Amino acid sequence: MSKDKYWLMGPVYDALSWVFAGNSIYKCKCSMLKKPWLKPGDKVLFAGVGHGKEAIYAAEQGARVTVVDLSEAMLKKFREAVERTGKDLDIRIIHADIFKVEEFGEYDMVTGNFFFNLFPRNMVPTLLEHLIKLTRVNGHVVISDFAYPQGNPLAKLFKQAYWYTAILIFWATTGAEIHPVYDYQRYMEEAGLKMREIKHTPFLGIDAYTSMLGERVA
Ligand SMILES: C[S@@+](CC[C@H](N)C(=O)[O-])C[C@H]1O[C@@H](n2cnc3c(N)ncnc32)[C@H](O)[C@@H]1O
Repeated sequence: MSKDKYWLMGPVYDALSWVFAGNSIYKCKCSMLKKPWLKPGDKVLFAGVGHGKEAIYAAEQGARVTVVDLSEAMLKKFREAVERTGKDLDIRIIHADIFKVEEFGEYDMVTGNFFFNLFPRNMVPTLLEHLIKLTRVNGHVVISDFAYPQGNPLAKLFKQAYWYTAILIFWATTGAEIHPVYDYQRYMEEAGLKMREIKHTPFLGIDAYTSMLGERVA
């Protein structure tokens, strides 16, 4: 496997996210981990799980959780967090590229949290199509990420500045590509998902984060 791009970010990712957003990112990622979208026994896959506090939360709600990540530095923090719970949780860890996971149609829910934004624009539909294939028919795909900059000019400006600060940090530490915020809802609709819920999470009074849930209908 090639060099871990998250070797530097891995140990500090969640702390940095706390400095950057308080509890808002975590809250956003948990938006859809509730009834009717998540029920005990559901199979949920977290693509690019990172430190994965929300995956642990899902397992604590009774979900059967699979997490996938390319970075061992990130997964180390995830394993430590699971251990710290002291609970016997149903969690399977896969250290791999998400595109190598081919358990098609097996999951009730597949999530990509703050994950799509790592990819260049031309890869977004391909990645989304892959996550949809992993989801069973009538299952759900969830994307949580920075909110698409809209609203009044001040809110728009804040969201743009907030996003570019984040992506510049990732560009400098992991080599991520710099690009505008993607319109995930449009990508989800174009991929044939039926949008069922969209939830914004504020930071400093602005809807800075969005979680979107779409149903695979065929
Ligand atoms: C920005 S972090 C987000 C982590 C977590 N989902 C969160 O919201 O806090 C992106 C994660 O995706 C992982 N990743 C990047 N490319 C990947 C790929 N092709 N397959 C699996 N994981 C990948 C990185 O190692 C990193 O842990």
